[in-house]
Amino acid sequence: MDFRGRTALVTGAGGGIGSAAALRFAAGGANVYLVDVDGARLEQVADAVSRAGAGVGFRVADVTLAKEVEDYVAGAVETFGSIDAFFNNAGIEGPVAPLAEYPEDGFDRVIAVNLKGVFLGLRHVLPVMLDQGRGAIVNTGSLASARGLPLTGAYNAAKHAVLGLTRTAAAEVGSRGVRVNAVLPGMIDTRMLRSLAHSLNDGDVDGGVAAMAGSAPAGRPGTPEEVAAVVCFLASDAASYVNGVGWPVDGGALGTMGNSHSATSTQGARTP
Ligand SMILES: NC(=O)c1ccc[n+]([C@@H]2O[C@H](COP(=O)([O-])OP(=O)(O)OC[C@H]3O[C@@H](n4cnc5c(N)ncnc54)[C@H](O)[C@@H]3O)[C@@H](O)[C@H]2O)c1
Repeated sequence: MDFRGRTALVTGAGGGIGSAAALRFAAGGANVYLVDVDGARLEQVADAVSRAGAGVGFRVADVTLAKEVEDYVAGAVETFGSIDAFFNNAGIEGPVAPLAEYPEDGFDRVIAVNLKGVFLGLRHVLPVMLDQGRGAIVNTGSLASARGLPLTGAYNAAKHAVLGLTRTAAAEVGSRGVRVNAVLPGMIDTRMLRSLAHSLNDGDVDGGVAAMAGSAPAGRPGTPEEVAAVVCFLASDAASYVNGVGWPVDGGALGTMGNSHSATSTQGARTP
């Protein structure tokens, strides 16, 4: 994918999927502007992007706060002059509990990060792209955008809503040179998946990851790089006629849910 002369803005850039996407944009020649609440991780990723030869800028920001979102968008434009690709990706897993016991404060935080954060990103990046008359946005949904999954109700609700926002945005701006799609990762081996595996499998992280990954025909978790490849495709000119979709990167899980893929397949916890 050729991103030479273009700028990619990535939120959640300190995390597994965000950092892989930042590096992939950089490999395609983009300048990359990184955003995360975790300043230490952000600096590490910025170093890696810079070593890859790309222009890099970064800002510590909480995607739930409108002023901080406004500032990171302005920072990207001031640093590189445009935002051509926006990976609207920051997210948290939140509490693991049945709805009958789900903590209200945990619900509010998950909705704030995973839904309001995505909305605020769209709210402040879309005007920039509409002024440019060009741009591509990829929101991070999930397998949980398309199915009801147990024990992560707030996450499930927010990720369904991310797909709704994606479709609304595509309908609103598709005739003005801006495309908005979502990537729907399945079980991807990052801090988040391991945290969920820990909660869902009584502290046995590797066993939990294996059980969750076993729900997909691939029989293994995906890598952040496998998600990053699709994100960069959706953000590139190669996807110029792709708009308003939720694109699974899940080793076949969504297409085959309900099938039994292997002797070790579990039909239990399918988060995220
Ligand atoms: N790993 C998976 O299996 C999986 C599956 C489906 C969807 N996803 C989604 O992918 C995205 C990235 O997750 P990941 O797996 O890389 O996890 P991760 O925990 O490695 O990365 C998430 C990043 O988001 C940042 N973040 C959290 N709250 C923030 C806030 N308020 N403001 C700014 N940054 C914030 C974190 O600091 C972290 O660096 C999330 O939206 C997640 O829901 C992940």
